[in-house]
Amino acid sequence: MRSYFFGESASTHWRIKELQEKFQNYEHLNIDIRSHEDLEKIFRKYATDIHLIIHAAAQPSHDWAAKEPLVDFGVNAMGTMNLLELTRQHCEDAVFIFTSTNKVYGDNPNFLPLIEKDLRYEIDESHKYFKEGIDEDLSIDHTTHSVFGASKVAADVMVQEYGKYFGMKTGVFRGGCLTGPNHSGAQLHGFLSYLMKCNLAKTHYTIFGYKGKQVRDNIHSFDLVNMFWHFYQKPRCGEVYNAGGSRFSNCSMLEAIDLIEKITTNKMDYSYTETNRIGDHIWYISDIQKFKNHYPNWEYKYDLNDMLIQIFNSMKTRV
Ligand SMILES: NC(=O)c1ccc[n+]([C@@H]2O[C@H](COP(=O)([O-])OP(=O)(O)OC[C@H]3O[C@@H](n4cnc5c(N)ncnc54)[C@H](O)[C@@H]3O)[C@@H](O)[C@H]2O)c1
Repeated sequence: MRSYFFGESASTHWRIKELQEKFQNYEHLNIDIRSHEDLEKIFRKYATDIHLIIHAAAQPSHDWAAKEPLVDFGVNAMGTMNLLELTRQHCEDAVFIFTSTNKVYGDNPNFLPLIEKDLRYEIDESHKYFKEGIDEDLSIDHTTHSVFGASKVAADVMVQEYGKYFGMKTGVFRGGCLTGPNHSGAQLHGFLSYLMKCNLAKTHYTIFGYKGKQVRDNIHSFDLVNMFWHFYQKPRCGEVYNAGGSRFSNCSMLEAIDLIEKITTNKMDYSYTETNRIGDHIWYISDIQKFKNHYPNWEYKYDLNDMLIQIFNSMKTRV
């Protein structure tokens, strides 16, 4: 599906091949989550052995969703529904983790009091709330989500419901920017990874709006998976967490370009266009205090610089 969404260069086949070669017990089943019938065969076959489901399959791009809303909704909402219902029918004690997104808050973060600095937007420090970032109490209602954000809301709310209504151990993790050395960044998805790819391949990069001062928090895949590990060991029912780099790891577009240029020593070939992407966040930093309160032993291992260096090392031989 990834090649269908973002082109052959965004395929993750290279990584599947690596995993198959490296780990004897890794089994890859190429199943479309929109097919209830195909999924059911797997659930029937493995039912009693399924203890944990990490649902990370998605049409993950904001921009792509508007091209084919039916496909986007089919994968993100209906695919999630298939997985939830099959879990309930075949292995209801399993822990079910869903990778949601900060786009469920729509463009509500853009109405926070922000101030403009030299290289980034920031929350106005005189404002009492959101100093540590955006928490789970921000409304997901009355806002422009983008088609993608709305299909993820449908899934996000349903995952919560299977926890609250059916008492299943479901956890919703609303990601900031998730990345790591194995990310196959594409123009429409995977900001840091794609930025590094353009820098190394000397491909032109376009910044859309907000003067390049839009801020994103970035979390390493290891740290996110470690969050899942903590949740799995002490699960709750229908819980929601913001999961991003928080104050620990975040950058604006301009700051990211600066950092990447320092790491690769290549100048970035980029231009700026005034029109921002519809519903795009100006400033988004996840407040992860709720997760930290529930799981105090969890800590970050990799910051922004570590992430970029790892992406660089993994990419320099591939690009
Ligand atoms: N990367 C980010 O910055 C970010 C931020 C917030 C949330 N998320 C969420 O995290 C999850 C993983 O994102 P990612 O960045 O790894 O994206 P990704 O595109 O790398 O991974 C999604 C995977 O889902 C697969 N897939 C798509 N449609 C499918 C289908 N119908 N059946 C089975 N598999 C299908 C794709 O082939 C791909 O391998 C998604 O739910 C995404 O919305 C990602």
